[in-house]
Amino acid sequence: MSIAFLDGQYLPLEEAKISPMDRGFLFGDGIYEVVPSYAGKMVGFAPHIARMQQGLAAVGIKLDWSEQQWADLCHRLIAENGSGNLGIYLHVSRGADTKRFHAFPENVTPTVFAFAFEIAPPPVADKALAKPYKVTSTQDLRWDRCQIKSTALLGNVLHFQQGYEKGHGETLLYNANNELTEASACNAFIVKDNVVITPLLDNQKLAGITRLIVLGTLRKDGNIVIEERVVTMDEVRSADEVWITSSSKEIAPVIEIDGAPVGDGKVGDMWLRAQTLYSAGKFDY
Ligand code: PDD
Repeated sequence: MSIAFLDGQYLPLEEAKISPMDRGFLFGDGIYEVVPSYAGKMVGFAPHIARMQQGLAAVGIKLDWSEQQWADLCHRLIAENGSGNLGIYLHVSRGADTKRFHAFPENVTPTVFAFAFEIAPPPVADKALAKPYKVTSTQDLRWDRCQIKSTALLGNVLHFQQGYEKGHGETLLYNANNELTEASACNAFIVKDNVVITPLLDNQKLAGITRLIVLGTLRKDGNIVIEERVVTMDEVRSADEVWITSSSKEIAPVIEIDGAPVGDGKVGDMWLRAQTLYSAGKFDY
């Protein structure tokens, strides 16, 4: 049985109920995070909470929780749910109103919801054990505020579904200029001639915490050339390697895009170096 948190109370997930007038339910008016935790140790806790605080400020949801309050909540959920391989879902909506009206209500109390769910063990840095992805690509038709980790994920859901219906595990997205943005629930990287390249952050992408840790661990190693810049889809299609990154996947190799192989169609050597560094350094963030 999964123990969740809703508005100050710990309770079985099935017993957690919100009002249908909650603006998270009616408008997708909320901010969320997913923090991975392995054997009681969270990955990227501080940057995850910083990103959530930035998201709340960006949409004007006023919730005065300190990092320590979030840490206490996460640790309690981890302990209540067996301390294994867990994703901690944190969600703050603007709260429940008495009417359905677009403007922000005054004096509304934000709804805070959190639960823990089981995730796969972290990837092992071993080509034979890697989980390669085949993906679809499509034009990114989401909104122009993708840096905000909003609970309004319909745009992402529709893009994910486009790949899923073709038997693919993700959908790579590109803008109207044929430039890679990210994937429907991941950031993206390419490797060309041993250079690791990822799109620059802007309003078209979420600033992924896994992306941050990948760049941090690779830079710390000091032996790998990294570029953050515009990446065209032509570069993606002629790359030696493509990776997608997220909190639950860490670094996942992409071996096929729209039915065409990436590089030699196998998990690459740079993936192995990057996942090795990530596995060794991820708890420092
Ligand atoms: N997805 N880009 C998008 C659109 C995402 O939804 C995510 C994460 C990422 C990667 O961010 P991070 O490395 O911080 O997990 C990039 C989460 C896990 C989700 O929606 O379940």
